[in-house]
Amino acid sequence: MTTATSQSSEGSPASGAASTGTEPAGAPATSYEAHFRVWRGDTDGGGLEDFRVEVHEGEVVLDIIHRLQATQAPDLAVRWNCKAGKCGSCSAEINGRPRLMCMTRMSVFDRAQTITVTPMRAFPVVRDLVTDVGFNYTKAREVPAFVPPEGVAPGEYRMQQEDVDRSQEFRKCIECFLCQDTCHVVRDHEENKAAFAGPRFLMRVAELDMHPLDAAEDAGLDRKRTAQEEHGLGYCNITKCCTEVCPEGIRITDNALIPLKERAVDRKYDPLVWLGSKIRRRGR
Ligand code: SF4
Ligand code: SF4
Ligand code: FES
Repeated sequence: MTTATSQSSEGSPASGAASTGTEPAGAPATSYEAHFRVWRGDTDGGGLEDFRVEVHEGEVVLDIIHRLQATQAPDLAVRWNCKAGKCGSCSAEINGRPRLMCMTRMSVFDRAQTITVTPMRAFPVVRDLVTDVGFNYTKAREVPAFVPPEGVAPGEYRMQQEDVDRSQEFRKCIECFLCQDTCHVVRDHEENKAAFAGPRFLMRVAELDMHPLDAAEDAGLDRKRTAQEEHGLGYCNITKCCTEVCPEGIRITDNALIPLKERAVDRKYDPLVWLGSKIRRRGR
């Protein structure tokens, strides 16, 4: 995709990035004018457009994108919903880093800095800042669901607190797909997408594989094997980039991917581990 730079004809006159001293009447004294560079385009290509836009104290990047829509670029496409870091819709790349626009405060940037907002690079663009994240839904469908244990009714499940805590950490996921976007396995390698589920869905496999009540194995489903052979666990080289961008602070690599790798290796090379798991399951 091309990213040729173009200057918006709608940008206001250049000004210093620090407080302008020319705020409109009624605007807070802490307002200033920021330089935004936003990717505009669609499936046929596009480029970066420059804007000068007013910023007020306490605002986040999504506020500025909304102000651009209201004042200079009414057809700018952006996906958002909650503006509270919970729906996972407003994912984009801000100065090259995958982030939620609604949770990125303007105060973290130097006022003189140009703020570049681009769509998530790992997914195809629909228009402007909106990408087609269908890849993730495809991968989600490829992970078999929790298999309920036989003879135990819902409501009768009993688990150790540490098992509950582990699942709850993974369940904080808001499906923003920033981890999927940042993972180098697919970010620059479209050809890997068919064979690699990505950190979000390998985490789901790990969650189910470590779930003490999941009866997948009794039903003939070996989640460790499928992690390797169907979800591409071996592609992950535990660089932790996914963990670094997760807005929920989930320790994807340490708590899901590394344990899953260890369990897969144990299963493959240690017959005692395999036998032990069989005996443990029979005794349940
Ligand atoms: S730790 Fe693995 S899944 Fe996460 S970004 Fe690195 S390679 Fe991708
Ligand atoms: S694991 Fe974190 S970064 Fe990945 S989709 Fe879930 S919330 Fe987003
Ligand atoms: S708008 Fe919901 S997470 Fe940003």
